[in-house]
Amino acid sequence: MTATCNVVVLISGSGSNLQALIDSQGADNPARIRAVISNRPEAFGLQRAATAGIETRVVDHKAFAGREEFDAALMAVIDEHAPDLVILAGFMRILTAGFVRRYAGRLLNIHPSLLPLYRGLDTHHRVLADNQPEHGCSVHFVTEELDGGPVAIQAVIPVAPGETAESLTARVHAEEHRIYPLAMRWFAEGRLRLGEQGAMLDGETLPATGYQLRI
Ligand code: GRF
Repeated sequence: MTATCNVVVLISGSGSNLQALIDSQGADNPARIRAVISNRPEAFGLQRAATAGIETRVVDHKAFAGREEFDAALMAVIDEHAPDLVILAGFMRILTAGFVRRYAGRLLNIHPSLLPLYRGLDTHHRVLADNQPEHGCSVHFVTEELDGGPVAIQAVIPVAPGETAESLTARVHAEEHRIYPLAMRWFAEGRLRLGEQGAMLDGETLPATGYQLRI
């Protein structure tokens, strides 16, 4: 039997990815979400967690003098839960190098683009403006380079004729809800790891685009 994997999820907003992670928990999945932490007290995701009986905490960035102080407080709360894995699910703060180093190899983020393409914000508009035939989302290990860490899993969707930023946002979001639970499960099962050369699945180094699911 696989040992349980303690997970802490950080959010800032709606938490639809958090919901997908919560819903994916079960007897056959070793991942257990022990706490959900938000930097915004009004984040709807906190209600989702509470409804699921998961401990919620707020570490409000506005209560701290700067990034270092905020991250120190955040790390203290995270470490109370002894996480094997820390998941960023719409957590809208840039983390300090010290934070990223502390959770190196056990810190995942989801980004709405086919990394390494379109790091940063407003990815859907930029993809449409460039007439890209494909778009998608990526789960990646977090490193000190923003949106630059090794990709674990990617969902690729074709950009449909007449697509708008709104329709693309909705379609990409639906794919996020498929690949994030998969990444959490694979990590919890010990199948997904961060290696020297990149993300590794079942002992093999993945390509720069990670494990790709094509829709
Ligand atoms: C997602 O689009 C994710 O790619 C980005 O933040 C958003 C979070 O959405 N990092 P939600 O709060 O999970 O609904």
